[in-house]
Amino acid sequence: MIYKIEIFFIVFISVASVFSQDQANYDESLIPEYTLPDPLECADATPVVNKKIWLKKRRPEILRMFETFVYGRMPGKPKKSTFEVTSTAADALGGLATRKEITLYFDRTQKHINMSILLYLPNNADTPVPCFLGLNFNGNHSIHTDPDITLNSNWMRNNESLGITDHKAPEFSRGESAGRWPVERILQRGYALATVYCGDIDPDYDDGFKNGVHALYHQDGLPPGKDEWGTISAWAWGLSRAMDYLERDRDIDKKRVIVLGHSRLGKTALWAGAVDERFALVISNNSGCGGAALSRREFGETVKRINTVFPHWFCDNFNTYNDNVNALPVDQHMLIALIAPRPVYVASAEDDKWADPHGEFLSALYADPVYRLLDTDGLAVTTWPCLDMPVRSTIGYHIRPGKHDVTAYDWERFMDFADRHLTGKK
Ligand code: GCU
Repeated sequence: MIYKIEIFFIVFISVASVFSQDQANYDESLIPEYTLPDPLECADATPVVNKKIWLKKRRPEILRMFETFVYGRMPGKPKKSTFEVTSTAADALGGLATRKEITLYFDRTQKHINMSILLYLPNNADTPVPCFLGLNFNGNHSIHTDPDITLNSNWMRNNESLGITDHKAPEFSRGESAGRWPVERILQRGYALATVYCGDIDPDYDDGFKNGVHALYHQDGLPPGKDEWGTISAWAWGLSRAMDYLERDRDIDKKRVIVLGHSRLGKTALWAGAVDERFALVISNNSGCGGAALSRREFGETVKRINTVFPHWFCDNFNTYNDNVNALPVDQHMLIALIAPRPVYVASAEDDKWADPHGEFLSALYADPVYRLLDTDGLAVTTWPCLDMPVRSTIGYHIRPGKHDVTAYDWERFMDFADRHLTGKK
């Protein structure tokens, strides 16, 4: 027994050190040579010379490749889903907002799950209003200290580390992520905010796809096929279901829903925005590997590392490229291109080397030809901007000083970008 435990620790420590963030490459001069797939050349070598070829042939082809080789196919809109507005308060946040909580129920034979949307609407705005929609990491109650937000009672990562054995979030976790969600400011600038806890859709650990929304669709006990959805696809699916609700809420302008996310949830926002064209604008913050950063650069986090440490995030086929990323038929600039011609914003942080800020910028840059083909101004710069010099063309970008996080500065730039592209304000 002792022998087995020792072996376990030796294996664990060597995997941890091979894949530790310190061991990654952070040197531009050591990036292997690579050639990116051309978004404007079809797999059968047909050049994409006009919008029609892009829309009818190349775009669906790229979408299919991301489904098959990276994130995994997700099911469509469920046949059986209902929603219930579980609470409404017209005088939330000292009268600034109306707060609604909406529960979506998804039923399939014998199983059901529910997912809760927390929605704040500005009271002083003419409705319908544009709306930011983003997943959160720690429960809807974590984004604000508002005492009336329902405490989440689905799986909570932090409960485990706190030794709490049931699922209900503790009262003291209320507002724990408030620094990332400047709710009052968003409302003052005329936007609604909708958020959903990612764990309502699929808990973020490798459980063999036995819980969350996977459990509804894989009741035979068999795991998803190699090209079927991992957790990022499941979360993206959840964002689309939130959009199904927002489309029906008369207080929301359904043509101006912005999907955004940070880090793993930024990867998710890009994928959701690529798949679901109802999202009018897409924002990725520090999304890194599997998000905005080019995989072929292998700078900071690599495909091999992400697939090893987070085996549940992507589809199984993605593992094929762990040691041969150049064989991937896509790279992440093509994910951004899938969002065209809708505005997309990529945000980086200077000290977030793990997410490869330069690689995030290059993806935005290499998506530019597709945006221009579709009659937009693409990305207005060709070189990596200096710190705090936001670019607000149809592909937007900024890099700010500081670490991996979502800051007030990031949010102000997101809202400036949305003002410009969705509300006509300059
Ligand atoms: C890890 C992971 C990243 C991810 C990040 C996050 O650092 O390696 O890919 O973006 O977690 O989601 O916070």
